[in-house]
Amino acid sequence: MSIPMPGFVTESIYAARAWLNNRVDARWSNDPFGKAPRGTPDEYQALFEKARLNEFPAVDAVEKETGFAIDRAWLDDLALHTQIVKKKSDLAYPHGRLLYSLVRKYISDSGETFVTILETGTARGFSALCMAKAIQDAGIAGRVVTFDVLPHLKKQYWNCIDDGEGKNTRAELLSRWPELTRMITFVHGDTLMMLPRIGHERVNFAFLDAQHIKSSVLNEFQAVTRRQQPGDVIFFDDVTPKSYPGVVAAVSEIEQAGDYALQRLTISDQRAYAWGAKVR
Ligand SMILES: C[S@@+](CC[C@H](N)C(=O)[O-])C[C@H]1O[C@@H](n2cnc3c(N)ncnc32)[C@H](O)[C@@H]1O
Repeated sequence: MSIPMPGFVTESIYAARAWLNNRVDARWSNDPFGKAPRGTPDEYQALFEKARLNEFPAVDAVEKETGFAIDRAWLDDLALHTQIVKKKSDLAYPHGRLLYSLVRKYISDSGETFVTILETGTARGFSALCMAKAIQDAGIAGRVVTFDVLPHLKKQYWNCIDDGEGKNTRAELLSRWPELTRMITFVHGDTLMMLPRIGHERVNFAFLDAQHIKSSVLNEFQAVTRRQQPGDVIFFDDVTPKSYPGVVAAVSEIEQAGDYALQRLTISDQRAYAWGAKVR
């Protein structure tokens, strides 16, 4: 039985929540990638030419096993606009291939005709588009719901090749893929605040790639697992002990609990993944 509360109490709770939301969001809404482009279009193009040549035999093997591989020319073009950034660590985007392949395999094995995919950590939208493409190529209906503290409709620099044209919103950055972005809901906010509020009762496939600390991964996992049935899949990025011990610890805890049968793929000390299906 719910206890009726006087209006002013409810209103105060809403006001406090709105204040907290604004405080959390504010630090991400003020040119998080800088007030000027970090590189020229030629510099980003040169980084891309190098990154696209990276070979990943372990990813080839996964594609062979599932029987599904993303169109590489399409992937490279998407990566040029959404993955090629100026940063210290190596540039590569094999997770797009893995996500596509595993979503296609999930759809094929499950026979579902409508799927909901949840992603935490949208960034520029690369993975969300790879997963939307998997739904589209499978010829079924579905949606991707993706969360980020970075706003979708605020013009900013993104540390990417399109910064040469000036500031863009994420919506503008992704406007060359209209059919796919129509399948994606971009939720702006901290996953801690937003995940408990989503109405979706089922999450067929989840990709956790937001804040890489143990408590966040476990919070997001809790929001996902209560919406999954046996056979539904979860995928963790950056299960790398050197860079993200919190992700490694969270994934180990989840694995030990025994509700998911996880498998791991380590490509290098900078790139490692874990994924698997719910078993009970
Ligand atoms: C590694 S990037 C995601 C990359 C993206 N999944 C892809 O593959 O293209 C992590 C993103 O998570 C966002 N993020 C970090 N902590 C978050 C939080 N607590 N809630 C929502 N988004 C968060 C960051 O703003 C960043 O864009």
